Amino acid sequence: MPDGATIQRMFAEVAPGYDRANRALSLGIDVWWRRVTTGIVGVKSGERGLDVCSGTGDLCFALQRAGAEMVGADFCAPMLSFTHDKAQRLGARRPRFVTADAMQLPFADASFDFATVAFGIRNVQEPVVALREMARVVRPGGRVVVLEFAQPRVPLFGALYRFYFGRVLPWLGGKISGAKNGAYRYLHDSVMAFPERDAFLGLMREAGLARPRTRLLTGGVAAIYRGEVEAG
Ligand SMILES: C[S@@+](CC[C@H](N)C(=O)[O-])C[C@H]1O[C@@H](n2cnc3c(N)ncnc32)[C@H](O)[C@@H]1O
Repeated sequence: MPDGATIQRMFAEVAPGYDRANRALSLGIDVWWRRVTTGIVGVKSGERGLDVCSGTGDLCFALQRAGAEMVGADFCAPMLSFTHDKAQRLGARRPRFVTADAMQLPFADASFDFATVAFGIRNVQEPVVALREMARVVRPGGRVVVLEFAQPRVPLFGALYRFYFGRVLPWLGGKISGAKNGAYRYLHDSVMAFPERDAFLGLMREAGLARPRTRLLTGGVAAIYRGEVEAG
């Protein structure tokens, strides 16, 4: 796995074309995935939420729209810089965004009602450390929700997906985003290497999260994981 500085540089280069590439490569399905994630968080109006690895802020804006007071955190400032334009485009108030590493969050214990991360945990050097940090900053009884790529296991669909993801996407992603740094090859490799489903539920338990469970999306191309911070 590339080190943190390499990941930061890679996302800094991808940042200008990141949203455009996401929409095109997923045929817009990633918007729906974030909507389902927002539903699984179960936001109550006025709740305080933290979105880690927030990037250009898509999940943060969706959760804010659902009624939460959001803070976004990401260690790549160029990704965060695109949240200004996005707020304007959406006619939305811009949540607070902080440049921070997911493994060392600059927030007090129990200062949020929930924490989320979308397509970010896979990039973090030590995912359990980040999950533990998310659990730490969420109040007892609060939730930690993760949206991440998975690998479909239905035979024919799985084979088609692996062809698209392994052969088409690295080339097409580079063309659409303008990135020349192999970011979309890295996307493929990191998804293939990442623990998913039961293994990831195990990581959540290791991080101290209670009642971890998962919901698969789009034939298992993505998964939402939800755990709770033990109350008392
Ligand atoms: C694939 S993007 C996802 C962005 C956004 N959550 C979304 O759904 O579009 C991954 C993001 O994670 C960030 N990231 C990776 N490792 C990180 C870390 N250790 N701490 C904070 N942010 C990190 C990257 O800078 C990048 O913005």
